[in-house]
Amino acid sequence: MAQALRDAAARLAASSDTPRLDAELLLAEALGVRREQLVLDANEELGPEAFRAFEALVLRRQACEPVAYILGRKEFRRITLCVDRRVLIPRPETELLVEIGLTLPRGASVVDVGTGSGSVALALKDERPDLDVWGTEVDPGALAVARANADRLGIEVEFVQADLLEGVSRRFDAVLGNLPYVAEGSDLPPDIGYEPDLALFGGPDGLDPVRRLLPAVAEVPLVALEVGLAQAAASLLQEAGFRSVERLRDLAGHERVVVGRR
Ligand SMILES: C[S@@+](CC[C@H](N)C(=O)[O-])C[C@H]1O[C@@H](n2cnc3c(N)ncnc32)[C@H](O)[C@@H]1O
Repeated sequence: MAQALRDAAARLAASSDTPRLDAELLLAEALGVRREQLVLDANEELGPEAFRAFEALVLRRQACEPVAYILGRKEFRRITLCVDRRVLIPRPETELLVEIGLTLPRGASVVDVGTGSGSVALALKDERPDLDVWGTEVDPGALAVARANADRLGIEVEFVQADLLEGVSRRFDAVLGNLPYVAEGSDLPPDIGYEPDLALFGGPDGLDPVRRLLPAVAEVPLVALEVGLAQAAASLLQEAGFRSVERLRDLAGHERVVVGRR
Protein backbone atom coordinates (compact mmCIF):
# COMPACT_ATOMS: atom_id res chain seq x y z
CA MET A 1 0.00 0.00 0.00
CA ALA A 2 2.84 2.38 0.87
CA GLN A 3 4.37 1.86 -2.57
CA ALA A 4 1.03 2.42 -4.37
CA LEU A 5 0.66 5.69 -2.44
CA ARG A 6 4.16 6.83 -3.33
CA ASP A 7 3.62 6.02 -7.02
CA ALA A 8 0.28 7.82 -7.14
CA ALA A 9 1.67 10.88 -5.34
CA ALA A 10 4.54 11.06 -7.86
CA ARG A 11 2.09 10.92 -10.77
CA LEU A 12 -0.20 13.55 -9.23
CA ALA A 13 2.62 16.03 -8.66
CA ALA A 14 2.10 17.43 -12.16
CA SER A 15 -1.61 18.19 -11.65
CA SER A 16 -1.85 18.98 -7.94
CA ASP A 17 -0.19 21.16 -5.28
CA THR A 18 -1.00 18.53 -2.66
CA PRO A 19 -0.19 15.21 -4.38
CA ARG A 20 0.45 13.12 -1.27
CA LEU A 21 -2.71 14.31 0.48
CA ASP A 22 -4.77 13.74 -2.67
CA ALA A 23 -3.34 10.23 -3.08
CA GLU A 24 -4.20 9.39 0.53
CA LEU A 25 -7.76 10.72 0.22
CA LEU A 26 -8.31 8.78 -3.01
CA LEU A 27 -6.86 5.54 -1.62
CA ALA A 28 -8.99 5.84 1.52
CA GLU A 29 -12.02 6.34 -0.73
CA ALA A 30 -11.13 3.34 -2.91
CA LEU A 31 -10.77 1.17 0.21
CA GLY A 32 -13.82 2.64 1.97
CA VAL A 33 -11.77 3.51 5.07
CA ARG A 34 -10.83 6.68 6.92
CA ARG A 35 -7.55 8.30 5.86
CA GLU A 36 -5.97 7.63 9.29
CA GLN A 37 -6.42 3.89 8.70
CA LEU A 38 -3.86 4.04 5.87
CA VAL A 39 -1.07 4.60 8.40
CA LEU A 40 -2.03 1.45 10.30
CA ASP A 41 -2.36 -0.59 7.08
CA ALA A 42 0.73 0.83 5.35
CA ASN A 43 2.39 -2.58 5.01
CA GLU A 44 -0.74 -4.40 3.78
CA GLU A 45 -0.93 -5.55 0.16
CA LEU A 46 -3.39 -3.76 -2.08
CA GLY A 47 -5.69 -6.37 -3.66
CA PRO A 48 -6.40 -6.22 -7.44
CA GLU A 49 -9.93 -4.86 -6.99
CA ALA A 50 -8.81 -2.07 -4.65
CA PHE A 51 -5.91 -1.33 -6.97
CA ARG A 52 -8.26 -0.93 -9.94
CA ALA A 53 -10.62 1.30 -7.96
CA PHE A 54 -7.71 3.45 -6.75
CA GLU A 55 -6.26 3.69 -10.25
CA ALA A 56 -9.60 4.95 -11.65
CA LEU A 57 -9.69 7.74 -9.05
CA VAL A 58 -6.06 8.69 -9.61
CA LEU A 59 -6.67 8.99 -13.35
CA ARG A 60 -9.52 11.41 -12.71
CA ARG A 61 -7.28 13.53 -10.47
CA GLN A 62 -4.50 13.38 -13.06
CA ALA A 63 -6.99 14.93 -15.48
CA CYS A 64 -7.26 17.81 -12.90
CA GLU A 65 -10.73 16.94 -11.61
CA PRO A 66 -10.95 18.42 -8.08
CA VAL A 67 -10.77 15.90 -5.22
CA ALA A 68 -14.09 17.17 -3.81
CA TYR A 69 -15.92 16.20 -7.03
CA ILE A 70 -14.20 12.80 -7.11
CA LEU A 71 -15.19 12.11 -3.49
CA GLY A 72 -18.56 13.85 -3.90
CA ARG A 73 -18.21 15.78 -0.66
CA LYS A 74 -16.51 18.76 0.98
CA GLU A 75 -16.19 19.82 4.62
CA PHE A 76 -17.28 23.36 5.45
CA ARG A 77 -17.10 24.52 9.07
CA ARG A 78 -18.89 21.78 11.09
CA ILE A 79 -20.79 20.17 8.22
CA THR A 80 -19.97 17.95 5.26
CA LEU A 81 -21.73 18.94 2.04
CA CYS A 82 -22.39 16.68 -0.93
CA VAL A 83 -21.05 18.38 -4.04
CA ASP A 84 -21.06 17.63 -7.74
CA ARG A 85 -20.44 19.58 -10.92
CA ARG A 86 -23.70 21.51 -10.55
CA VAL A 87 -22.20 23.53 -7.68
CA LEU A 88 -19.07 25.43 -6.78
CA ILE A 89 -16.87 23.60 -4.27
CA PRO A 90 -17.15 25.61 -1.02
CA ARG A 91 -13.88 27.38 -0.17
CA PRO A 92 -12.40 27.99 3.30
CA GLU A 93 -12.36 31.78 2.72
CA THR A 94 -16.16 31.77 2.36
CA GLU A 95 -16.39 30.81 6.05
CA LEU A 96 -15.89 34.57 6.69
CA LEU A 97 -19.51 35.09 5.57
CA VAL A 98 -20.69 32.56 8.14
CA GLU A 99 -18.67 34.34 10.83
CA ILE A 100 -20.43 37.60 9.98
CA GLY A 101 -23.78 35.81 10.17
CA LEU A 102 -22.85 34.60 13.66
CA THR A 103 -22.75 38.22 14.89
CA LEU A 104 -26.46 38.76 14.12
CA PRO A 105 -28.86 39.28 17.02
CA ARG A 106 -31.03 36.41 18.21
CA GLY A 107 -33.90 35.54 15.85
CA ALA A 108 -32.64 37.71 12.98
CA SER A 109 -33.55 36.83 9.39
CA VAL A 110 -30.78 36.34 6.88
CA VAL A 111 -30.49 35.25 3.26
CA ASP A 112 -27.55 33.64 1.47
CA VAL A 113 -27.83 34.88 -2.14
CA GLY A 114 -26.42 32.44 -4.71
CA THR A 115 -26.32 29.60 -2.24
CA GLY A 116 -24.86 26.89 -4.51
CA SER A 117 -24.46 23.74 -2.40
CA GLY A 118 -26.15 25.63 0.46
CA SER A 119 -22.79 26.00 2.22
CA VAL A 120 -23.17 29.41 3.89
CA ALA A 121 -26.87 29.07 4.72
CA LEU A 122 -26.58 25.53 6.11
CA ALA A 123 -23.39 26.14 8.11
CA LEU A 124 -24.92 29.28 9.64
CA LYS A 125 -28.20 27.60 10.58
CA ASP A 126 -26.23 24.64 11.98
CA GLU A 127 -24.35 26.98 14.33
CA ARG A 128 -27.19 29.43 14.99
CA PRO A 129 -30.51 27.53 14.96
CA ASP A 130 -32.28 30.64 16.32
CA LEU A 131 -31.78 32.53 13.03
CA ASP A 132 -34.36 32.47 10.23
CA VAL A 133 -32.11 31.43 7.35
CA TRP A 134 -32.98 31.54 3.66
CA GLY A 135 -31.01 30.77 0.52
CA THR A 136 -31.65 31.82 -3.08
CA GLU A 137 -30.20 30.24 -6.18
CA VAL A 138 -30.91 30.87 -9.86
CA ASP A 139 -29.77 27.48 -11.15
CA PRO A 140 -32.24 24.62 -10.58
CA GLY A 141 -29.47 22.00 -10.53
CA ALA A 142 -27.57 23.82 -7.80
CA LEU A 143 -30.81 24.40 -5.89
CA ALA A 144 -31.49 20.64 -5.94
CA VAL A 145 -28.03 20.05 -4.42
CA ALA A 146 -28.69 22.61 -1.66
CA ARG A 147 -32.06 21.08 -0.81
CA ALA A 148 -30.63 17.56 -0.78
CA ASN A 149 -27.87 18.73 1.58
CA ALA A 150 -30.45 20.31 3.89
CA ASP A 151 -32.53 17.11 3.97
CA ARG A 152 -29.55 14.85 4.58
CA LEU A 153 -28.16 17.10 7.34
CA GLY A 154 -31.59 17.74 8.88
CA ILE A 155 -31.00 21.51 8.83
CA GLU A 156 -33.99 23.79 8.16
CA VAL A 157 -33.27 26.49 5.61
CA GLU A 158 -35.83 27.98 3.22
CA PHE A 159 -34.29 27.54 -0.23
CA VAL A 160 -35.97 29.34 -3.14
CA GLN A 161 -35.23 29.61 -6.83
CA ALA A 162 -34.66 33.27 -7.64
CA ASP A 163 -32.53 35.62 -9.67
CA LEU A 164 -30.72 37.30 -6.74
CA LEU A 165 -33.68 38.42 -4.54
CA GLU A 166 -36.24 38.92 -7.31
CA GLY A 167 -39.71 37.84 -6.23
CA VAL A 168 -38.62 37.18 -2.62
CA SER A 169 -40.99 39.33 -0.59
CA ARG A 170 -39.48 38.56 2.87
CA ARG A 171 -37.60 41.47 4.48
CA PHE A 172 -34.17 40.46 5.78
CA ASP A 173 -31.98 41.80 8.58
CA ALA A 174 -28.91 40.67 6.65
CA VAL A 175 -27.89 39.57 3.18
CA LEU A 176 -24.80 37.39 2.72
CA GLY A 177 -23.52 36.34 -0.67
CA ASN A 178 -20.68 34.70 -2.49
CA LEU A 179 -21.93 35.50 -5.97
CA PRO A 180 -19.80 34.86 -9.08
CA TYR A 181 -16.91 37.34 -9.16
CA VAL A 182 -14.34 36.19 -11.70
CA ALA A 183 -13.87 38.67 -14.56
CA GLU A 184 -15.10 37.25 -17.87
CA GLY A 185 -12.22 35.93 -19.98
CA SER A 186 -9.85 35.37 -17.01
CA ASP A 187 -7.38 32.50 -17.28
CA LEU A 188 -8.24 29.93 -14.65
CA PRO A 189 -6.37 26.82 -13.48
CA PRO A 190 -7.67 23.62 -15.15
CA ASP A 191 -9.30 22.24 -11.97
CA ILE A 192 -11.51 25.34 -11.69
CA GLY A 193 -12.65 24.60 -15.27
CA TYR A 194 -14.68 21.71 -13.78
CA GLU A 195 -16.86 24.17 -11.83
CA PRO A 196 -19.98 25.75 -13.38
CA ASP A 197 -19.45 28.95 -15.39
CA LEU A 198 -22.58 30.38 -13.79
CA ALA A 199 -20.89 30.08 -10.38
CA LEU A 200 -17.67 31.73 -11.53
CA PHE A 201 -18.09 34.58 -13.98
CA GLY A 202 -19.49 37.95 -12.97
CA GLY A 203 -19.23 40.04 -16.14
CA PRO A 204 -16.35 42.13 -17.54
CA ASP A 205 -14.88 43.10 -14.13
CA GLY A 206 -16.57 40.44 -12.00
CA LEU A 207 -18.78 43.00 -10.27
CA ASP A 208 -21.98 42.72 -12.31
CA PRO A 209 -23.81 40.61 -9.68
CA VAL A 210 -22.96 43.18 -6.97
CA ARG A 211 -24.22 46.05 -9.16
CA ARG A 212 -27.45 44.17 -9.84
CA LEU A 213 -27.94 43.21 -6.19
CA LEU A 214 -27.47 46.64 -4.61
CA PRO A 215 -30.87 48.15 -5.57
CA ALA A 216 -32.56 45.09 -4.05
CA VAL A 217 -30.84 45.57 -0.67
CA ALA A 218 -31.55 49.29 -0.31
CA GLU A 219 -33.36 48.70 3.00
CA VAL A 220 -31.25 45.86 4.40
CA PRO A 221 -29.25 46.84 7.53
CA LEU A 222 -26.27 44.52 6.90
CA VAL A 223 -24.85 43.24 3.62
CA ALA A 224 -21.71 41.09 3.38
CA LEU A 225 -20.35 39.97 0.03
CA GLU A 226 -17.38 37.87 -0.98
CA VAL A 227 -15.74 39.61 -3.94
CA GLY A 228 -12.69 39.59 -6.17
CA LEU A 229 -12.09 43.35 -6.21
CA ALA A 230 -12.74 44.47 -2.65
CA GLN A 231 -11.86 48.11 -3.11
CA ALA A 232 -14.14 48.57 -6.13
CA ALA A 233 -16.95 46.63 -4.43
CA ALA A 234 -16.56 48.78 -1.30
CA SER A 235 -16.97 51.92 -3.43
CA LEU A 236 -20.16 50.51 -4.93
CA LEU A 237 -21.54 49.89 -1.42
CA GLN A 238 -20.60 53.42 -0.35
CA GLU A 239 -22.32 54.89 -3.42
CA ALA A 240 -25.37 52.77 -2.55
CA GLY A 241 -25.60 54.64 0.78
CA PHE A 242 -24.14 52.26 3.37
CA ARG A 243 -23.07 54.27 6.42
CA SER A 244 -20.06 52.09 7.17
CA VAL A 245 -18.20 49.84 4.74
CA GLU A 246 -15.48 47.46 5.90
CA ARG A 247 -13.12 45.21 3.94
CA LEU A 248 -12.13 41.93 5.59
CA ARG A 249 -9.09 39.80 4.78
CA ASP A 250 -9.10 36.03 4.45
CA LEU A 251 -6.46 33.77 6.01
CA ALA A 252 -4.21 34.27 2.99
CA GLY A 253 -4.28 38.04 3.63
CA HIS A 254 -6.45 38.93 0.61
CA GLU A 255 -9.25 41.44 1.03
CA ARG A 256 -12.07 39.02 0.32
CA VAL A 257 -15.30 40.26 1.89
CA VAL A 258 -16.94 43.67 1.96
CA VAL A 259 -19.41 44.42 4.73
CA GLY A 260 -21.84 47.32 4.50
CA ARG A 261 -23.90 48.55 7.46
CA ARG A 262 -26.68 51.13 7.34
C1 LIG B 1 -19.47 31.51 -6.42
S1 LIG B 1 -20.84 30.40 -6.36
C2 LIG B 1 -21.02 30.31 -4.59
C3 LIG B 1 -21.83 29.16 -4.07
C4 LIG B 1 -21.92 29.12 -2.56
N1 LIG B 1 -22.50 30.35 -2.03
C5 LIG B 1 -20.54 28.90 -1.94
O1 LIG B 1 -19.91 29.88 -1.56
O2 LIG B 1 -20.12 27.75 -1.81
C6 LIG B 1 -22.16 31.46 -6.89
C7 LIG B 1 -23.52 30.84 -6.93
O3 LIG B 1 -24.44 31.87 -7.29
C8 LIG B 1 -25.35 31.36 -8.24
N2 LIG B 1 -25.83 32.49 -9.03
C9 LIG B 1 -25.25 33.11 -10.09
N3 LIG B 1 -25.99 34.14 -10.51
C10 LIG B 1 -27.07 34.19 -9.70
C11 LIG B 1 -28.22 35.03 -9.64
N4 LIG B 1 -28.39 36.03 -10.49
N5 LIG B 1 -29.14 34.79 -8.68
C12 LIG B 1 -28.98 33.77 -7.80
N6 LIG B 1 -27.93 32.93 -7.82
C13 LIG B 1 -26.98 33.14 -8.75
C14 LIG B 1 -24.56 30.35 -9.03
O4 LIG B 1 -25.40 29.43 -9.70
C15 LIG B 1 -23.70 29.73 -7.95
O5 LIG B 1 -24.35 28.64 -7.35
